[in-house]
Amino acid sequence: MSVIIKGEQIYEGKAKRLFNTNDPDRTIIEYKDSFTAFNGEKRAEMSGKGRLNNLISSEIFEYLSDKGVPHHFIERIDELCQLAVKVRILPLEVVVRNITTGSICKRLGVGEGIRLQQPLVELYFKDDDLGDPIVTEDHAILFGWASQEDLWAIKSVAVRVNDLLTALFNGISVVLVDFKLEFGKDMSGKLLLADEISPDTCRFWDVSTGDRLDKDRFRKDLGNVLGAYEEIWKRLSGRAK
Ligand code: TMP
Ligand code: ASP
Repeated sequence: MSVIIKGEQIYEGKAKRLFNTNDPDRTIIEYKDSFTAFNGEKRAEMSGKGRLNNLISSEIFEYLSDKGVPHHFIERIDELCQLAVKVRILPLEVVVRNITTGSICKRLGVGEGIRLQQPLVELYFKDDDLGDPIVTEDHAILFGWASQEDLWAIKSVAVRVNDLLTALFNGISVVLVDFKLEFGKDMSGKLLLADEISPDTCRFWDVSTGDRLDKDRFRKDLGNVLGAYEEIWKRLSGRAK
């Protein structure tokens, strides 16, 4: 199908809206200017945020395409929208950590900024009412959120994405501290990396200054939030390819 026509809205989340299209296998993802943190308790609108996350996430998915990672992204349509494969999102947030910070320090009482000997992959049950609790693979299998085969594939893709993104961000003087991925199944049941990969869903630290270049600037009231997103976009889009 060549010409894609935007249909009715099918979902509105905290940072994006999804629309039907004239192709039942395709969805249009529109990025919003909203910031939320702490399970939606803290909110703000910042004009230009949706555009930056759309540009950054599109650039990252295009990079992952070149490396053969199966994902939902098809193309960026304009400043705010992308075309993607329609998927049923698994109710799991897959977090990969290279350096300790954030919730792992609070949960386990470990120090901040410790480099882990190997990437740590964690699963969280995606449920706002429960505050996205951490779960084990056994929970995911027993409650039907993913099969054992899905989880093997998810873990191997997550570790590969970590390697690929670590290299990408190293090249622009940014440390990939941790990030969150989501996965979905397309109409034929194929597992695809989905959702977004942006400063909302990753922690990025400047290699030399340690400056936070991600949503922690909003979470922790560090100021110049959009400046950090702009900086990530400037470095990503200006890199030698
Ligand atoms: P955490 O340290 O708060 O668990 O966050 C780990 C990573 O996951 C970090 O890069 C931010 C990202 N993340 C999301 O994308 N969405 C969320 O709802 C949360 C809590 C974290
Ligand atoms: N994504 C979550 C929220 O919007 C939490 C976070 O990113 O800190 O509330």
